[in-house]
Amino acid sequence: MKPIISPSILSADFAYLANDIEMINGSEADWVHIDIMDGVFVPNISFGFPVLKYVAKLTEKPLDVHLMIVQPEKFIPEVKALGARIMNVHYEACPHLHRVVQQIREAGMLPAVTINPATPVAMLRDIIDDVYMVLIMGVNPGFGGQKFIEHTVDKVRELRELITVTGSEALIEVDGGVNLETGARLVEAGANALVAGNAVFSAPDPAEAIRALKNL
Ligand code: DX5
Ligand code: ZN
Repeated sequence: MKPIISPSILSADFAYLANDIEMINGSEADWVHIDIMDGVFVPNISFGFPVLKYVAKLTEKPLDVHLMIVQPEKFIPEVKALGARIMNVHYEACPHLHRVVQQIREAGMLPAVTINPATPVAMLRDIIDDVYMVLIMGVNPGFGGQKFIEHTVDKVRELRELITVTGSEALIEVDGGVNLETGARLVEAGANALVAGNAVFSAPDPAEAIRALKNL
């Protein structure tokens, strides 16, 4: 099975976002990955809902929204209003994760749980049956273009095992440091979906970079 490709517009040129969104619309990308940061949960701020409203209007692919913010449940209505298909919240940001996952489903979106590099896969054991997807970070969240943390490949393998043992149908997505080389190993380890920012937007031909990832 070919991997699902979710280009992250965090690495796009924000002054010409429409061009990059049109590129994604015409590419082999499956989803569009939207990184929302608050400067509290992560040491950076990206963009917020007033900007994303216009991004969502132009985008023809399903939105894979990744909230790197504290109390993400506060923004379920805003994410829903964008027309998002998937809402990713961080395990580390949700003391009442089970409730947040149910709230995302009740709002009509697919819930996904994201884990930071230092969070063990084992922490997902009691939520794995309730989520559409787990997003494993391949870098510490906050910035595009960082170096891939090697241990991520082992975590994908471990999560694939947990999913098999529990009979869960959750997808595995990886975000951070994904390129053709790391992407191939992640898919081999059991990843279903790959987020790519720098590997797409710093390529001479971004649509071609998406095609190459899709055909890993
Ligand atoms: C990082 C973001 C990622 C980022 C990935 O905090 O969550 O989605 O855009 O960027 P690359 O692919 O450049 O590592
Ligand atoms: Zn992300």
